[in-house]
Amino acid sequence: MRHYLMVRPGYFDVEYSINPWMDPGKPTDTGLAVAQWEWLRDLYVELGHRVDLLDPVPGLPDMVYAANGATVVNGRALVARFRHPHRRRESAAYLKWLSEHGCRDVRQARWHNEGEGDFLLAGSRILAGTGFRTDRRAHEEAAEFFGLPVVGLTLTDPRYYHLDTALAVLDDDVVMYFPGAFTEDSRRQLEKLYPDAVIASAADAATFGLNAVSDGRHVILPQAATGLIAQLRERGFDPIGADLSELLKGGGSVKCCMLELRHSGGEQ
Ligand code: ARG
Repeated sequence: MRHYLMVRPGYFDVEYSINPWMDPGKPTDTGLAVAQWEWLRDLYVELGHRVDLLDPVPGLPDMVYAANGATVVNGRALVARFRHPHRRRESAAYLKWLSEHGCRDVRQARWHNEGEGDFLLAGSRILAGTGFRTDRRAHEEAAEFFGLPVVGLTLTDPRYYHLDTALAVLDDDVVMYFPGAFTEDSRRQLEKLYPDAVIASAADAATFGLNAVSDGRHVILPQAATGLIAQLRERGFDPIGADLSELLKGGGSVKCCMLELRHSGGEQ
């Protein structure tokens, strides 16, 4: 059983553009966003996971992307410091909620740090993205705070601006990723660490197929990522396709919509 934190997209809209997917000129449908999000929340509950909710705040249309609020490992929470001013006020909500809900050490990051958008726990190491949002210095800060090794990975394609848009952790030892989103150095590092990784095609990556949530068995990912869905099935996972078309207009999908609350984890 996993424990997830989600934010209902009650004030969802695309009012500004801070990634190439966002077009404020395109209409959005908040009701549809809520319906698609509810389907996802209900699915997690049906799969046996616990979902807690953080109240959305008016004027923060990107707050539905809860992954970005913090990184929580072993009951310790490193709360985001957003790069763009549009999202900065979200941090206060996470500081308060996580302090009031059993985290034993809650601190806001000193450097730009977009939470689980760029920090993914993989077994006893953390994979950390940089290049667009999270500052490289935040990697060192996270390594110290969590007492875990952090592997820094550099993103190069503006469409894949957070690590969780280009790579997903499937279980402690298996990841899936799109090599084209990374520098050559980072690609080499990934090949060395994960020789058995599931490799995504450019077409699957472009559906946001890597923005996936795995509980070690079920993998929830955009339904349009048909190549990845087939590969996951071959590897013995149980893929479940999701339709989050409204939330894609903000440049996010399945993984962006939840923050994993790990009461333990990362033990070596
Ligand atoms: N509009 C949001 C932003 O650009 C989307 C965040 C997506 N979240 C994620 N974990 N990739 O910040």
